[in-house]
Formats: sequence, structure tokens, C-alpha cells
Amino acid sequence: MTGSHNLQMYWLESGEGRSMEPFPFAYNIKEDRWAPAHDTFLLPPEFGAQVGHHNTIGEWNQACMDCHTTFARPRFVDGLEFDSHVVEFGISCEACHSGGEEHIAANRNPLRRYAKHLGEEGDDTMVDPMKLDGPRATLACGQCHSIWGFRSVEDKLAWNREGTQFQPGDDKLVLRWMMEPTMADASEELRKELQNYNAGYFDNRFWSDGMVRVTGREMNGVVESPCFEGGEYSCMSCHEMHPDDPKPEVLDAWRAGQMRTDHGNTNQDCLQCHETIAQDISAHTFHAPESVGSSCYDCHMPHTSYGLLRGVRSHQVSSPTSRESIDTGRPNACNLCHLDETLEWTADYLHNWYGQEKPDFEADDRNIAAAINWLLKGDAGQRAVVTWNMSRPEAQAASGTDWMYPVLSLNLNDPYAAVRFITYSTLRDLPGMSDFEYEYVGDEAVTRPRVKVAYEKWFNEIKPKDHVFDSSTLLQPNGLFQPGEVARMLELRDDRPIFLAE
Ligand code: HEC
Ligand code: HEC
Ligand code: HEC
Ligand code: HEC
Ligand code: HEC
Ligand code: HEC
Ligand code: HEC
Repeated sequence: MTGSHNLQMYWLESGEGRSMEPFPFAYNIKEDRWAPAHDTFLLPPEFGAQVGHHNTIGEWNQACMDCHTTFARPRFVDGLEFDSHVVEFGISCEACHSGGEEHIAANRNPLRRYAKHLGEEGDDTMVDPMKLDGPRATLACGQCHSIWGFRSVEDKLAWNREGTQFQPGDDKLVLRWMMEPTMADASEELRKELQNYNAGYFDNRFWSDGMVRVTGREMNGVVESPCFEGGEYSCMSCHEMHPDDPKPEVLDAWRAGQMRTDHGNTNQDCLQCHETIAQDISAHTFHAPESVGSSCYDCHMPHTSYGLLRGVRSHQVSSPTSRESIDTGRPNACNLCHLDETLEWTADYLHNWYGQEKPDFEADDRNIAAAINWLLKGDAGQRAVVTWNMSRPEAQAASGTDWMYPVLSLNLNDPYAAVRFITYSTLRDLPGMSDFEYEYVGDEAVTRPRVKVAYEKWFNEIKPKDHVFDSSTLLQPNGLFQPGEVARMLELRDDRPIFLAE
């Protein structure tokens, strides 16, 4: 099995040595349901069951095991055959703490054990990531949580035979390099990688300005954050792997993202280093201190990444601008809460509050809510992320929910299974929709008729009778779509194939 608490994929004996053959269905734990494996990833419908990944014999051996096991040695033999070995089928102690042989040998001596137990200084026969400097600590996790490639064919072969030679505590990867498009040596290396893999390699993983956009590859974002330059910043600034406090409520909160139990997932994660902002939060955020609009994370690490059928926090600390949305298509943090406002609205506030220069906008960015633009004209990656953000209570507090039903109904017929899944889960959780039935796996013949049913259910049963809709929502005051507008915008939709390689 690959995966544990969100999504599980399964592997069978293939008969080709120790090569694994994929089981074609995956299990989604939260939904308690099975689905074809390819319908749990964001990939073009034409990839279907044939191409894409997770569906060839040996895929586990040559890709998944590198990050999903401890001390993987893929050991390619011939054709489809591998003779793979692992130490553990999961992420175990030595993956983060380095090899334990010396530690175990040393501590056979009970006197040493007691001395260490009573002393303060810890035990240097074993690496504790919490005690490493920022870059080393980050790399201990980033050896897996990053987009990496091999420097040469020889290095790839060495890895294939002997597995990783990197140990937590080392200051750089061995045999491999982290593929960071903005790094000095990247252009040459990345060009080679593009030749090795395919031209989509970059687009499948990064926004066009080089910000990583898929989950499980957090180190690419962390090292690009301005905070990383201080030398202290690492995964352990915010995460903790073994909480000490056994109280169930503490563990439940921890389990959500394995955040530090002392201040994890609060503004304190940032304020531990940026103390001066703490003196007057509102002077910086322009929202009341207790408002969700004063959350450092939601403006500086918004959910613009994607993976496991949901929006995921970007791990690159950045500040919201309207420019990023124009230049890269990445939704800015303000509009991910203020979904019903236009891009120009955001630019005006960013200008008035933070002195940012205001760009020129096309008519739709001045007149139509940012979310509607992204949902109708955007590419599949934008549609997935924005639709997921519509389900956040923070976003619903800022932009209300009344206007969401019609546009979500439209996307129940999205060509991408992942977008349909997220659309349905967002719609289902809106007031009055819990009994709406829908199946996201299937072709247009199954999904198209549900558009009308969902819209009419809203119009007849849920829509507040006297609500007057704003023209920026593409609705007429009474809740009917403005004639011709949906068709006009769908005509402009960015249909380039999107495959997000999480
Ligand atoms: C050997 C590779 C490897 C190393 C080293 C590693 N991870 Fe992971 N990590 C993974 C994989 C693979 C998963 C998904 C596991 C699963 O559910 O099957 C994961 C899951 C996680 C999750 C859970 C995400 C969720 O959805 O809840 C967090 C948080 C995390 N890792 C943080 C870290 C941190 C912090 C470190 C360093 C101290 C680290 N990891 C080291 C491979 C690794
Ligand atoms: C570069 C390292 C890396 C590779 C290679 C990799 N994964 Fe992952 N995978 C991760 C990390 C890290 C996570 C945790 C991400 C998160 O929780 O957001 C993860 C999460 C997952 C999950 C969900 C785990 C859960 O939370 O239940 C599944 C399923 C999964 N990967 C399948 C695969 C498959 C199948 C392959 C091979 C085709 C693969 N992965 C290759 C690093 C990797
Ligand atoms: C995913 C990475 C990871 C894995 C796997 C892991 N640890 Fe840790 N370990 C850490 C980090 C990071 C710390 C620093 C404290 C913290 O985050 O809780 C730590 C701290 C510790 C400590 C110091 C005491 C403490 O709580 O601070 C001990 C002992 C320890 N780990 C033992 C183990 C053992 C035994 C295993 C295997 C069963 C294991 N660890 C697996 C990352 C990991
Ligand atoms: C371990 C310490 C540390 C943590 C934790 C940390 N930062 Fe930073 N941050 C720094 C350092 C050091 C710099 C670079 C020097 C500076 O500008 O203060 C920086 C720079 C920044 C900048 C850019 C400053 C500029 O002038 O352009 C922003 C924005 C920022 N941090 C936001 C955050 C946010 C938001 C969080 C929490 C999600 C956070 N930081 C967490 C240390 C940290
Ligand atoms: C400035 C704080 C901060 C730093 C530094 C940080 N993270 Fe996170 N991380 C978060 C927050 C907040 C979440 C979201 C937790 C939640 O609400 O579920 C998160 C979520 C994750 C997830 C789960 C993604 C998902 O939602 O499926 C993984 C995996 C992860 N982080 C790994 C890492 C790794 C590895 C590093 C270092 C390379 C790192 N993080 C550095 C704050 C941080
Ligand atoms: C409502 C959105 C918003 C929230 C919430 C927010 N910030 Fe910012 N922050 C910004 C913007 C926008 C900028 C960029 C200003 C510019 O364009 O230079 C910024 C800039 C920064 C900077 C660099 C410049 C400076 O003022 O020092 C730091 C550091 C920073 N934020 C930290 C934080 C921390 C810590 C928190 C949480 C207490 C936080 N921010 C909450 C919007 C926000
Ligand atoms: C996490 C969600 C969130 C984020 C991110 C956020 N806001 Fe807000 N904002 C709110 C909420 C909720 C309110 C309603 C009043 C309150 O709680 O402060 C609000 C109120 C406002 C208001 C006043 C009321 C209104 O709607 O006219 C303005 C203006 C505003 N936000 C602008 C921004 C800008 C600009 C940004 C980005 C720099 C931003 N917000 C980021 C949630 C958010």
C-alpha cells in the first residue's frame, strides 16, 4: 500500500521479479469510497486510464518507493523487472534520524544511558532534526519533500543499486539535486531534465514564476521564502513529529497537519521571529485583530498549491499582489477569501494600504468577481484550487455563499474528474445541499444532467426570496444568469491540458 491517512493506493505481485503492479482503484478515506486511481489525480481526461502515472508495472519500484519507504533500493534488472529492497514500507525512524547502529552500540552501556538521561546535552550518536540549523533541518525532511532529480546517469544508477547516500544532518543531497527553477545552476540542469522527461515537467509542478504548486514538495517553497535566509527557518519552525502531550484534544489538533503543539498553526508561528508586527496586528493587516483576515498564514501562505483532491498551503512565504494573478494566473490571497470581489477591488486596497502599484486591468477583471473569472475562464489547476477555497469557512465569512451555487452547479460538468470531485464536495457542504446526489466518476452523459438539477434545486428551494444579486456574480438581480455571459466566458476558457504531478 502507498499512502495512509488521506488516500490509499494498492500494489499487487506482477510476476516480473519484485516489480509491483498497480491495483486500478484507490481508496479515499475521508469520503469512505473507492474510485478509479486516475480519477483521484488532476490530469487531462484524455489521459484516461491509458497514460498518466500509477498504471504501469514497476511504477512503484521506479518512482513511489523513493519517497514512500525507508532506505529504498529500486534495483532495476531488465525490461519490467526490478529486484527492489526496502528497510521499511513507510517513513521510519532512520529516515529522519540517520542510521542507528552507532547509537545502539553506544547505549548498550547502562552507565552511559543513565548519564545521558540525567544530563542535558542530548546524544550526538543520533541526529535530532530539531537541533540542526535551518538548512540542514529542512533538508532532512526535504530529501523526500522536494522536487528532485539526478545529476547524471551514473548517479541515477548508483541510487538505483545502493539507495540514498544522504543522511539526515548532511548539508546537501548526495547524487541528487533539488530542482529549483530560480537557483543559479538551475537553467542548465533544468534544461537537461526537460530533455530527459518531457516539456511539461516544469508546468506540471511550478507556477510560471517558479513557485512550487503541488503538495508533498514543501522544501522547494521553504528555501525560496525570504525567511530562509535568516538561517534558523525550517520545517521545525512550525511542525513537530512527536508531540509530548498525550491529551486527546492536543493530539487531535496535532494530527491535522503535524503542527507544533506549543504554537503550531497560529500567528505565533510567524511572530516568534517577526515580533514587531505583534505590537499592533491591525496596523499591518487592516483587519480587526480577531478577524480571520488577520491570519498571517492566510495572506502569506494561502492555499494555492494542490494535491490529494484539495487546496494545500503554499510553503513559499510571499505577499499578496494583484500582479501575480495577472502574470501567473495564481489566485492572490485576498481574492481567495474575497472571492466575490473583483481583481481590481483587491488592487485598490493593496494600493491604498500597502502602497503597491496598481496595474491596468481588462474589463472582466474590473467588472466580474475574481472567483467567477477563474472558475469559468481559468485552467483546470485554477478551477480546482479556487473551488476548494470556496469551501473554507474563512472565505465564506468574507464573501457569503448565496452567489456560489449557480457557478458551482455549472462546473459539475467539468471535463476534469478532480475538479468535479472538489466542486461537488464544496457544493454539498453549502446550506440546503446535503441531500443533493451526484457521482463524479463518469462521463458527460452522467454529469451534464446534474447541472440543471443542482441549479434548479438552489433556485426553487434555497435562494433567499428577496436577495438581489450583484452583476459582478454574472447573475441578474433575480438569480438567473445574465444572457450570453456564461457562454462568452466559457469560450475564453483556458483549455490547455493540466497535469499536476503531486
Ligand atoms: C523518507 C521520506 C520522508 C522524510 C525523510 C520525511 N517525510 Fe514527511 N512524508 C513523506 C511521505 C511519503 C508522506 C505521506 C505518508 C503517507 O501518508 O503515506 C509524508 C507525510 C508527511 C506529513 C503529513 C501530511 C498530511 O497529509 O497530514 C507531514 C506534516 C510531513 N510528512 C512532514 C515531514 C517533516 C517535517 C519531515 C522532517 C522532520 C518529514 N516529513 C520527513 C516522506 C518523508
Ligand atoms: C518526491 C517524493 C515522492 C514521490 C516520488 C512520491 N510521493 Fe507520494 N507523497 C509524498 C509526500 C511528501 C506526500 C505527503 C503529501 C501531503 O500529505 O500533502 C505524499 C502523499 C501521497 C499519498 C497520500 C498519502 C496520505 O496522506 O494518505 C499517496 C496515495 C501517494 N503519495 C502516492 C504516491 C504514488 C503512487 C507515487 C508513485 C507514482 C508517489 N506517491 C511518489 C512524496 C512522494
Ligand atoms: C518524519 C521524521 C521523523 C521520524 C520518521 C521519526 N522522528 Fe523522531 N524526531 C523527529 C523530529 C523532527 C524530532 C524533534 C522533536 C519533534 O519534532 O517532536 C524528533 C525527536 C525525537 C526524539 C527526541 C525526543 C523528543 O521527543 O524530542 C526521539 C527519542 C525520537 N525522535 C525517536 C524516534 C523514533 C524511535 C522513531 C521511530 C519510531 C522516530 N523518532 C521517527 C523526526 C522524526
Ligand atoms: C525562524 C524565523 C522566521 C519565521 C518562523 C518566519 N520568518 Fe519571515 N523572515 C525571517 C527572516 C530572517 C527574514 C528576512 C529578514 C527580514 O526581512 O526580516 C524574513 C522575511 C520575511 C518576509 C519578507 C520581508 C521583506 O522585507 O520582504 C515576509 C513577508 C515574512 N518573513 C513573513 C513571514 C510569515 C508570514 C511567517 C509565518 C508564516 C514567517 N515570516 C515566519 C524569519 C522568519
Ligand atoms: C511557517 C510555518 C511552516 C513551515 C516552515 C513549514 N510548514 Fe508545512 N505546513 C504549515 C501549515 C500551517 C500547514 C497546514 C496545516 C493544516 O492546517 O492542515 C502545513 C502543512 C504541511 C503538509 C500537509 C499538506 C497538506 O495540507 O496536505 C506537509 C506535508 C508539510 N506541511 C510539510 C512541511 C515540510 C516538509 C516543511 C519543510 C520543508 C514544512 N512543511 C515547513 C506550516 C509550515
Ligand atoms: C490581510 C493580509 C495580510 C495579513 C493577514 C498579514 N500580512 Fe504581512 N503583508 C501583507 C502584504 C500585502 C505585504 C506586502 C507589502 C508590500 O507590498 O510590500 C505584507 C508584508 C509583510 C512583511 C514584510 C514587510 C514588513 O511589513 O515587514 C512581513 C515581515 C509580514 N508581512 C509579516 C506578517 C505577519 C507576521 C503576519 C501575521 C501577524 C502578517 N504579515 C499578516 C499582507 C498581510
Ligand atoms: C482569511 C480570509 C481573508 C483574507 C486572506 C483577507 N480578508 Fe479581508 N476580510 C475578511 C473577512 C472575514 C472580512 C469581514 C470583516 C472582518 O472579519 O474583518 C474582511 C473584510 C475586509 C474589508 C472590509 C469589508 C469589505 O468587504 O469591504 C476589506 C476592504 C478587505 N477585507 C480587504 C482585504 C484585502 C485587500 C486582503 C488582502 C491583502 C484581504 N482582505 C485578505 C477575510 C479575509
